[in-house]
Amino acid sequence: QLNIPKEEGLDHSLALIQEGYQYITSRRTKFKSDLFETRLLGQKVVCIGGQEGAELFYDNEKFERKGAVPKRIQKSLFGENAIHTLDGEAHEHRKLLFMSLMTEERLELLAELTREEWRLAAAEWAKMEQVVLFDEVQQILCRVACRWAGVPIDAIEVKPLARDFIAMVDAFGAVGPRHQKGRKARKKMEDYFKGLIIEIRHRRIEPIEGTALHKIAWHRDHKEKHLDEHTAAVELLNVLRPIVAITYLVTFGALALFEHNVWKEKLQSGDEESVQMFAQEVRRFYPFAPFLGTKVKNGFEWKGHTFEKGQLVLLDVYGTNHDNRLWEEPYVFNPERFRNWNGGMFDLIPQGGGDEYTGHRCPGEMATIQVMKTSFSFLTNEMIYNVPVGQDLSYSLSRMPTYPESGFIIQGVSIKSQTT
Ligand code: HEM
Repeated sequence: QLNIPKEEGLDHSLALIQEGYQYITSRRTKFKSDLFETRLLGQKVVCIGGQEGAELFYDNEKFERKGAVPKRIQKSLFGENAIHTLDGEAHEHRKLLFMSLMTEERLELLAELTREEWRLAAAEWAKMEQVVLFDEVQQILCRVACRWAGVPIDAIEVKPLARDFIAMVDAFGAVGPRHQKGRKARKKMEDYFKGLIIEIRHRRIEPIEGTALHKIAWHRDHKEKHLDEHTAAVELLNVLRPIVAITYLVTFGALALFEHNVWKEKLQSGDEESVQMFAQEVRRFYPFAPFLGTKVKNGFEWKGHTFEKGQLVLLDVYGTNHDNRLWEEPYVFNPERFRNWNGGMFDLIPQGGGDEYTGHRCPGEMATIQVMKTSFSFLTNEMIYNVPVGQDLSYSLSRMPTYPESGFIIQGVSIKSQTT
């Protein structure tokens, strides 16, 4: 048996939290290996990366998710008994529920709602001296998410709701108060949406057919049973929260438009291919999901290394999106790389890899791209704004998740006159 590089020491959880997005990548570089062993959260962990590593990670015969997601992540980000923790038949069945939301018609509606909410928000910004895009976009997308999912929002105050969604995401790589805030937000949200599911099942609220709320409330699992109220609330949150989280990518996209004027001009030309390439490069280039975890189902050998049953394996998402064997000059922002891209299943993995029906790849990729493209088109074609100097546009790679320090401040907003 070959030995893979091993990081010596009792535990490196602190280094992971401190080094963030670069923790796995920098060690893969140092060890000159796509595979190395370390210790995290008190256990032996194998970190893998690159295209082959991603392909291995998504092999359902070798890995399972049961017991792979730490409780602290379930209690903040994903929810307990969420789809992320399921395997086999139960997983595939639940996944169909999510995939059924992503029809062409539903995605078009998502774009329409996104455009509508941008228009309403921008009209308000035109009356304000300045706005922090990160704060405002979360509210836009919170309205979009609720409306698209069929959640009544008339009685809800959107600003604190949006904050709670972001708090759940923001808790991911945090310890202490930031993590606690995410847990609290989740608890509050789960209670609220559990109540909503109960109302629906008592026929006191009738959600529109075809919406996530309707589908989840009446979904039957692979054993023909309705989801219990808590799980239904958790899965509804697994539709709403990630839509609000697109805020991070939209904010980074605004930064990219500012820093790469040539792309702003290309998007202004209204060229459909340009906006697609731009959105893909934003998803590849900027840090969001740093890594993913899974667990060895049955021991096996790979490249001379023995993976032991029950062992935790982490996939380097950020590093694979910046792997110089897959991407020329990976640390340069260049949407052109996507012009003739023949999309692989395991190279561009900001939302996971492999097949979304049989594996854990994100079911919301099309939705994400749709919202991003609509937002970037709005920013370039329907709005005029300045980006004031003196704000800190840098983002830390050690904070997970991260975004520009200033939240991206814009001033002097006006709406372009429509020529349609
Ligand atoms: C799974 C990223 C948007 C719903 C995932 C995974 C990642 C991810 C990395 C895990 C893949 C794995 O475990 O192997 C993102 C990012 C988004 C986004 C970066 C944009 C900000 C969405 C949207 C939805 C969604 C818009 C739904 C409307 C889900 C669900 C899963 C998932 C339900 C669990 C899938 C499973 O376990 O089978 N996402 N996502 N995501 N995402 Fe997304």
